[in-house]
Amino acid sequence: MKKAIIRMPMIALASGMIMLATWQLHAETNRVQFPELEGLVHYTTVRRGEVTEHIMTTPEALEAVKKGEPIPAGTHFVLVDYREGKVHRYFVMQNGPGWGDDYEERRRTGDWQFQWFWADKSINLQENTTRCQSCHNSRSDENYLYTLDALKAFDGTVVE
Ligand code: HEC
Repeated sequence: MKKAIIRMPMIALASGMIMLATWQLHAETNRVQFPELEGLVHYTTVRRGEVTEHIMTTPEALEAVKKGEPIPAGTHFVLVDYREGKVHRYFVMQNGPGWGDDYEERRRTGDWQFQWFWADKSINLQENTTRCQSCHNSRSDENYLYTLDALKAFDGTVVE
């Protein structure tokens, strides 16, 4: 009987620690804000089976890339993932001055950070955006972008 009384707070403490650990796993550093979609330029569409991806960025980033200048801080790149004609999720990249410093060097993708938003614009807390970075890292010569060539080629007509 006495033992049981002592164990109770121990169990409470242990489960509290597990909750804290889980919270820390999801609470990774992330500064990405959901963008104003209306102002963005849709420059390319990628189709993968059932998935249609509309890829867009700011007019300022488009202009900079055309001129061969650096992409300005605060730029958003958005991949809108449509399934059966409806938005399924948004993949977003955003850059900012010194944002790369939030992460250790081997994870870093320049000053870009990544986020996964559901159709209702809530964040997918199950995702750790290290995965996004590890893939996009292979594009370090192209501003960490996969569709830089399409952006360069864009002349007002969506590149497919
Ligand atoms: C397995 C590799 C891989 C992973 C993981 C990945 N991406 Fe990408 N991403 C791509 C490819 C490839 C494209 C080009 C579009 C296509 O082919 O579907 C792309 C395109 C994009 C674009 C459009 C800009 C560009 O690079 O052309 C954004 C924004 C983006 N991804 C964000 C994300 C986010 C956010 C995550 C994590 C939630 C993520 N990506 C994870 C491979 C990846």
